[in-house]
Amino acid sequence: MTTYNIAIDGPAGAGKSTIARRVARELGFIYVDTGAMYRAMALYLLRQGIDRNDEKAIEAACSQIDISLRYHEGVQQVLLNGEDVSSLIRTEEVSQMTSAISVYAPVRQKLLELQRELAGTQNVIMDGRDIGTCVLPHAQTKIYLTAGSHVRAVRRFKELEEKGQMCNLEEIEHDIIERDYRDMHRDIAPLKQAEDAVLIDSSHMTIVQVVDAIMEAARKQGLEVTG
Ligand code: DC
Repeated sequence: MTTYNIAIDGPAGAGKSTIARRVARELGFIYVDTGAMYRAMALYLLRQGIDRNDEKAIEAACSQIDISLRYHEGVQQVLLNGEDVSSLIRTEEVSQMTSAISVYAPVRQKLLELQRELAGTQNVIMDGRDIGTCVLPHAQTKIYLTAGSHVRAVRRFKELEEKGQMCNLEEIEHDIIERDYRDMHRDIAPLKQAEDAVLIDSSHMTIVQVVDAIMEAARKQGLEVTG
């Protein structure tokens, strides 16, 4: 079976998941949030009290971790050793741990196969950092979605504010810049724009405009989009 794959990569807070979820709904594709898989692994390591710099302990822990995805009414749930941890993986502590441990080969290897298997059996829109460059190099449509770090920080700030969480804009921007730097400069599968990816800078675009730009890119790459 030939599946149609859309890869979306980009830095933290660029709006990848919001956009990917919408595109998936419009196209009837499965949305695969690979960041959630890395986050679930980080949560396991945090729970075990493993140091983010202890590569040996992280490698050993990888064999004790089973990550899987489940969909409930179209919404992705990530399971860590059978436990739905979707609501526990969005904290700043988990974000920073995730970025720190995703530099290690055994961590990435563990998730790579699962990600490729998902994309090989169904039409997916998959977001992350290395989807177009490494996980799905043959994805029919590749998008590099970015926005200025200040714009991304403000968006995140508003999101947290709406949830009633106390936060500091400067700290959020600092954390975003730190995470981007680590994700872009690691040795294995760093974040970068694939040569054949369409660059979308959403700094001054609405969600609808970004969704339309992706649909247009997919259409150009042979996807039949009705409506
Ligand atoms: O997309 P996100 O913010 O949920 O990702 C959290 C971290 O996971 C990100 O800072 C780096 C890592 N990650 C990765 O290395 N490769 C991916 N494909 C997805 C996420």
